[in-house]
Amino acid sequence: MSSPFRIAPSILSADFARLGAEVSDVIAAGADWIHFDVMDNHYVPNLTFGPMVCQALKPHAKKPDGTPVPIDVHLMIQPVDALAAAFAQAGADYISFHPDASPHMHRSIQAIKAAGCKAGLVFNPGTGLEALDWAIDEIDLILIMSVNPGFGGQSFIDSALRKIELARKRIEETGRDIRLEVDGGIKVDNIARVASAGADTFVAGSAIFNAKDYADVVTAMREQLAASLSA
Ligand code: DX5
Ligand code: ZN
Repeated sequence: MSSPFRIAPSILSADFARLGAEVSDVIAAGADWIHFDVMDNHYVPNLTFGPMVCQALKPHAKKPDGTPVPIDVHLMIQPVDALAAAFAQAGADYISFHPDASPHMHRSIQAIKAAGCKAGLVFNPGTGLEALDWAIDEIDLILIMSVNPGFGGQSFIDSALRKIELARKRIEETGRDIRLEVDGGIKVDNIARVASAGADTFVAGSAIFNAKDYADVVTAMREQLAASLSA
């Protein structure tokens, strides 16, 4: 039976001087998605990469047998819409944004889906899930931030666990196939706890890219996730 879980390494912690090779290597190590953190030094106090880098990485986002690996674009930018369209053009598969960064949340969701991508909403540690009241039937992904957006290597904020449980309940009430992703401070020693709270997709940047052997960490995470199913 295939695992319900997806591991999405964040390239924010990868070696920027060899991003293509890093993407190939982490996929060879077992990654399911590639998490692509877009920061504009406006919505968050950091600046990363744009659609051209996504386009350059797209050919590397595939498993050794050629199966495409989804590029999971996390927009920490304001405004959202113009760049969301550019990322769709550049080969993004999922595009998620922070509802407080868009004055017209439904228009942003509609633009992402009209461009052929799956749409996600991102919730900061201090933001409630109210936006789901008005948009849960339109989205494919809920992304719960368990750190302050903007940097890798931060510690997991425990209150995110309660929000994950609430989000899982909301997904179950809709009966729709919505992925529940958690982003920030995910490690081998806490991923099972995050899965038990209801998450099924896990962003991990520093835990993976700071490791000597990517496969060791991804495998250890998978083992923890498998164990969480029988706990
Ligand atoms: C933070 C980013 C996260 C970050 C995760 O703003 O959205 O994806 O890269 O990094 P770690 O796993 O090191 O907390
Ligand atoms: Zn992210």
